[in-house]
Amino acid sequence: MLAATAGVPHGRCCAFRPGARRASRVAAVAVDRREDAAAATATQQRVAAVAPWLCRLAAAALVLAAPAAQADSPAIVFERSCSGCHTGGGNIVRRDATLRLEDLQRNGLDDTQALFDVIYSGRGSMPGFGQECAPRGKCTFGPRLADDDIRALAEFVKQNADAGWPPS
Ligand code: HEC
Repeated sequence: MLAATAGVPHGRCCAFRPGARRASRVAAVAVDRREDAAAATATQQRVAAVAPWLCRLAAAALVLAAPAAQADSPAIVFERSCSGCHTGGGNIVRRDATLRLEDLQRNGLDDTQALFDVIYSGRGSMPGFGQECAPRGKCTFGPRLADDDIRALAEFVKQNADAGWPPS
């Protein structure tokens, strides 16, 4: 309180005529009000000093929560899990099983359900990525993918196949 009132400009009270009682009563009230105002200002300043930290805390919490709340885009998942063998929609292991439309159609994989199944359970030397993929030897040794990610990947492969993938 002391610190809060110390900065109050008492000098301005002298603007009232010193001789007039009424005026000095008014001046006293004015000082009271000003002290209240100063106290309120001090509280506001304390809140203002803490507020940025609260803001920063809230922002940090949001940043930390973001990866959990928002799934990676299929393009990112593809880059991470598939592009090692299928970069640009090709196939570095089996040249007649690329992700291009002609191959998908020839191999009976031109709808998203069939694509989901291959990505989930694998086929030949293509490892499966589903949570319940089995036996283990037919499945990726890397991280398994959530069903939603596999569904999104199936869509992603289909859309890119329809669009002709980027030329490789
Ligand atoms: C270790 C290499 C490898 C990785 C990693 C891999 N694949 Fe494959 N993929 C293959 C091989 C090999 C085939 C051909 C399988 C067969 O029929 O023998 C294939 C086939 C496919 C096919 C069928 C293509 C066709 O024309 O028949 C699709 C679709 C496919 N992969 C999607 C994916 C997706 C999506 C991912 C990532 C989640 C992925 N693959 C990861 C090797 C891989």
